[in-house]
Amino acid sequence: MPTFNERPNIGPMVDRLEAALGPTGWEAIFVDDNSSDGTADAAREISLGDPRIRVIQRIGRRGLASAAIEGMCATAAPIVAVMDADHQHDPALLPRMLAAIHSGECDVAVGSRFAEGASMEGWNRPDREKVSAVANQLARKVTGVDLTDPMSGYFMLRTELLRRDAHRLSGIGFKILLDILATIDTPLKVKEFPLKFAARAEGESKLDRTVVFEFLVGLYDKWLGRIIPTRYALFGTIGAAGVIVHMAVLSAFLTLFGGRFEDHLVSTFEVGQTIAALVAMTFNFVLNNALTYADQRLRGAWPLAKGWLKFGLTCSVGLLTNVGAAAVLVRMGFHTYPAALTGILIGSVWNYALSSRFVWGR
Ligand code: GDD
Ligand code: MN
Repeated sequence: MPTFNERPNIGPMVDRLEAALGPTGWEAIFVDDNSSDGTADAAREISLGDPRIRVIQRIGRRGLASAAIEGMCATAAPIVAVMDADHQHDPALLPRMLAAIHSGECDVAVGSRFAEGASMEGWNRPDREKVSAVANQLARKVTGVDLTDPMSGYFMLRTELLRRDAHRLSGIGFKILLDILATIDTPLKVKEFPLKFAARAEGESKLDRTVVFEFLVGLYDKWLGRIIPTRYALFGTIGAAGVIVHMAVLSAFLTLFGGRFEDHLVSTFEVGQTIAALVAMTFNFVLNNALTYADQRLRGAWPLAKGWLKFGLTCSVGLLTNVGAAAVLVRMGFHTYPAALTGILIGSVWNYALSSRFVWGR
């Protein structure tokens, strides 16, 4: 169970596991990303009296998918399930999933919110239909398996199956099941179990359901992620869009205020260029926060303000590297445009490296 700020849900979850699985062999591993509410402590407290409860506390890491992968790889049990800790997934399904895998009826058991007989508390219908239709089609293409709920976070499989290919999983975002199905090459028998998807017990959701976006990122990650890392590709694409934003703001400013500042200390161009750079920087920050770092997004006024400032500083360093590198190249006899382009590329790598560490790192 990946956890992030789920403290009040841990104790009741252990009780429900006990009720579902009984005294026969099982263990529960909570993979916690150093939650500030003391989730890991709560789990460790239970663990003192019940060693079947284990905790992996990750420092400086964030992400549902990577937490799930680490948890699955950390068990010696032959069969492993991934499940949310917020009580939206009913543990009562576990014995039936287990029986289906034991009997060879399937290799992967999936708790589905959309299968016949499933239900959902607290999710509106129209959304559900739409998500299901788009996700279905794309998922079938990627995995070759017909699934009603490829984004489900509730599934079970043989650990060995997972471990063999774990190094090829991407660990980005929350499309972990989809990733597993697309990555494991051997043909898989998948069985879906209609899930009564409950409302969250305590706390709040950490994810947005940008399902289609997750798919596209997942596709890219599988096909090109090894050549140009997925996050950097996103960062660079948003950066390129930022250049367009910059030009648009600058040209609008020049049209509106042309000549207005000429008798002052600074020219209209200089003012416009500054404003355009700030707008473009903010545009980049907002989009990177929402998309590139969707799985470790900054939220709330203060973290966002701090992040924006740090991002600004980071970009200044990137700008220095950019201009410095380009200047050196021009002096070495390069043409202006190739030199400028190289400067931009080098600057963007700096921006990416620094911001991944100082803005979205922990
Ligand atoms: N370790 C770790 N790190 N755990 C996390 C993180 C993280 O960054 N983000 C979320 N979790 C944990 C939560 O604490 C919870 O136990 C579980 O992952 C699911 O997170 P929620 O925030 O409750 O997700 P949701 O209910 O909005 O999303 C559900 O539906 C998605 C598809 O729509 C989940 O079942 C997802 O797995 C699923 O993909
Ligand atoms: Mn949830």
